[in-house]
Amino acid sequence: MSTVVYGPLTPRDAARCAELESLLFDGDDPWPERAFLAELAAKHNHYVAARVDDKLVGYAGIARLGRVKPFEYEVHTIGVDPAYQGQGIGRQLLRGLFDFAGDAAIFLEVRTDNAAAIALYESEGFEQVGLRKRYYRVSGADAYTMKRDRR
Ligand SMILES: CC(C)(COP(=O)(O)OP(=O)(O)OC[C@H]1O[C@@H](n2cnc3c(N)ncnc32)[C@H](O)[C@@H]1OP(=O)(O)O)[C@@H](O)C(=O)NCCC(=O)NCCS
Repeated sequence: MSTVVYGPLTPRDAARCAELESLLFDGDDPWPERAFLAELAAKHNHYVAARVDDKLVGYAGIARLGRVKPFEYEVHTIGVDPAYQGQGIGRQLLRGLFDFAGDAAIFLEVRTDNAAAIALYESEGFEQVGLRKRYYRVSGADAYTMKRDRR
């Protein structure tokens, strides 16, 4: 198995992120390059990257909500190149987001039919706390809101 290197996501990765998004979220409003640039420019966001031989194979980002403590956090996106899925990269990226959130509560939305992501989130302590009908505008798919309680 190839060596995976974890580190910060940078604006130079934005085009590759958009390429991966269109593979991973086809039909569900994949983010374009400019969306990643905007996310990376926001100082309350934290983005991590997974690379193999300098190629970006995974990315994930989280936002800190609110201005006063106790903060809550929201996972904005996570994706792994299909050729590299199932090797533990997604879990490692998610844990990189946990490092930024510390012991605070974390929320996310996930398509109700996304069994792989739901299994990952549940195994990392998230529980379903809500159902958002037609959350995904293009496909009209429903989402669960999941929460990982304050530790
Ligand atoms: C969700 C995603 C990021 C997981 O990344 P990954 O690197 O493949 O995941 P990992 O190898 O770290 O696996 C972690 C856990 O996820 C779950 N999982 C991963 N692939 C799975 C699959 N095909 N079926 C069921 N569970 C799966 C398992 O619980 C797994 O733990 P295990 O290996 O101990 O069984 C990846 O599948 C992906 O990019 N999907 C498309 C984008 C997406 O749906 N993002 C989430 C939007 S909310």
